[in-house]
Amino acid sequence: MCGIVGIVQKQETKIGKAIIEALTKLEYRGYDSVGIASIYDNKVIITKDQGKISEVSERIDVNSIKGKIAIGHTRWATHGPPSKENAHPHVDCSGDISVIHNGIIENFQRLKEELLEQGHVFQSETDTEIIPHMIEQQVKKEGLALKEAIIQVVKRLEGTFAICVVSNLNPDRIYCAKRDSPLVIGINTDRMFCASDIPAFLNKTRKVVLLHDDEFVTLTSEGYDIINFNTLEKVIRKPHIVSWKPEMAQKAGFPHFMLKEIHEQPHSLADYVRIKQPSLTRIAEKIYNAEKIFLLAAGTAHYSTLTGEHLIRRFAKKSSSSIIASEFESVNSLIDEDTIILPVSQSGETMDTIMAIKSAKEQGASILSAVNVIGSTITRHSDEVLYLYAGPEIGVAATKTYTAQTIAMWDIGLELGKLSGEINNSEYSEARKLYQQIPNIVKQTIVRNEARANHVASWFAKKNSSFYLGRGLNLQTANEGALKMKEIAYIHSESYPAGESKHGPIALVEEDYPVVFITPQDYTHNRIIGNIMEMKARGAAATVVIEEGDREIEELSKWKFEIPQGYSEMFSTIPYVIPLQLLAYYTAVRRNLSPDMPRNLSKSVTVL
Ligand code: AGP
Repeated sequence: MCGIVGIVQKQETKIGKAIIEALTKLEYRGYDSVGIASIYDNKVIITKDQGKISEVSERIDVNSIKGKIAIGHTRWATHGPPSKENAHPHVDCSGDISVIHNGIIENFQRLKEELLEQGHVFQSETDTEIIPHMIEQQVKKEGLALKEAIIQVVKRLEGTFAICVVSNLNPDRIYCAKRDSPLVIGINTDRMFCASDIPAFLNKTRKVVLLHDDEFVTLTSEGYDIINFNTLEKVIRKPHIVSWKPEMAQKAGFPHFMLKEIHEQPHSLADYVRIKQPSLTRIAEKIYNAEKIFLLAAGTAHYSTLTGEHLIRRFAKKSSSSIIASEFESVNSLIDEDTIILPVSQSGETMDTIMAIKSAKEQGASILSAVNVIGSTITRHSDEVLYLYAGPEIGVAATKTYTAQTIAMWDIGLELGKLSGEINNSEYSEARKLYQQIPNIVKQTIVRNEARANHVASWFAKKNSSFYLGRGLNLQTANEGALKMKEIAYIHSESYPAGESKHGPIALVEEDYPVVFITPQDYTHNRIIGNIMEMKARGAAATVVIEEGDREIEELSKWKFEIPQGYSEMFSTIPYVIPLQLLAYYTAVRRNLSPDMPRNLSKSVTVL
């Protein structure tokens, strides 16, 4: 997820300053590098560098960027690490055409090969850079006008994009096109804006036009013209007035980033599913051929590695151990050059995990990591990286990055099953079909359970202790659900294997004591019914996360959350956590707490 913005105006001003101000409002969308393309004296001027907006603004003389037209970009790296070369805007060979982009071009490798054969020279590792070169090819070799050239190009792109193009070929206009990535227009009397999101210009105008997929916009200081780039038909769309306050706008109207990020999971999971990473096969092969395998993480990320440990056992028939990073010394003596270490980390900066990796590397281990932030410290210590593509996560409590970590574990598990033969070809293709549906299942799960979570939270918020119980694969769903309730609602919540509850914890249960059970219709189902009965017999109030239609368990529950059918055996640890994220969020809100900034916690624990 990146932030893009464009301004075209009647008067010449210090337009660089206005672009930077607009980008700052979009920094929550990405912040590893920043760039501006402006047109002055009929030249395209590119100013860009790696670093946060505040850092780069100090380095470049923003006030020297003058003119009537400019586009700007704040990056969240997906293809190519953060660097000046990979920062947007990107230009064609002549430097006359500049492009900024938010999204992921899936067919960029094939298009890049075609351009290389046509003699184009590339400066970056990004998918975006193919766009200006493709436009150049259409203009300079095929003789098309700039607008028609851009239309021909966007029709060939597969994947997601919101792009802005400025060129000295048409120096008074910004061309934009979008599919799946957001793009909005802001209208003022003396200038027009385009941006990924409304906050970019909300302090300048509340008059907004939302663009739809496959639309192409020509923006001038006088106004905007929208067409559908497939049919070329004109689109008439009236502006509407936005009533949001600026701080609400950065959360897209959600009251907190955490809730926004819970709702982003269908998109973030779709981005993960969409990208075929070459490192996946290499990681699966190295795990399959390894003598010893240790998964390594902290906090929420540790719970995702428990899925990985379970799937390595189930699909590769190999033993592996999930080690809490700060406890790595306990296995140090076992590490050698035949060892695979699989660190999982959202930030890639967790010091406990980094120190454990360094120690393992000194003993010859291979490091195969799953990380969200491209270019982070852990990625630089890794032999292979599987990226999570969850985008920046602003809420301190992990939500979309947990489901991204977990789907990455399932992705590896399926490849291991194929390698070992535990999954035959037809089972593999069936599993991959289910896998492709996960973003949609998560979306349905949110829709079905959000209001219910808010209702249950009114009861849960009055409690000060609870159990979260699961069996088998969903013990970690219980772990993660309990951690969410602890870290943002400040309710002491203990997760346990459901079978363990009778070995002591049940002593805490009294009348109306909250016990959350994760109960998919897998091999654990009948056993966990017994655990629910044991707890209810002592007065517990059962909250259950069931597959829809599971009347047997529903009848035992005080509260229920329902997951669409078909995800109990495979991938359950992804949809089954969603109601628990929502329950923790709404319980925190009911307790008048701040879900985005829970006390005592930081987003990335970079100290030991
Ligand atoms: C989870 O809600 C917490 N924010 C915390 O446990 C986090 O998962 C842990 O610190 C690991 O962070 P990482 O994924 O960035 O390595």
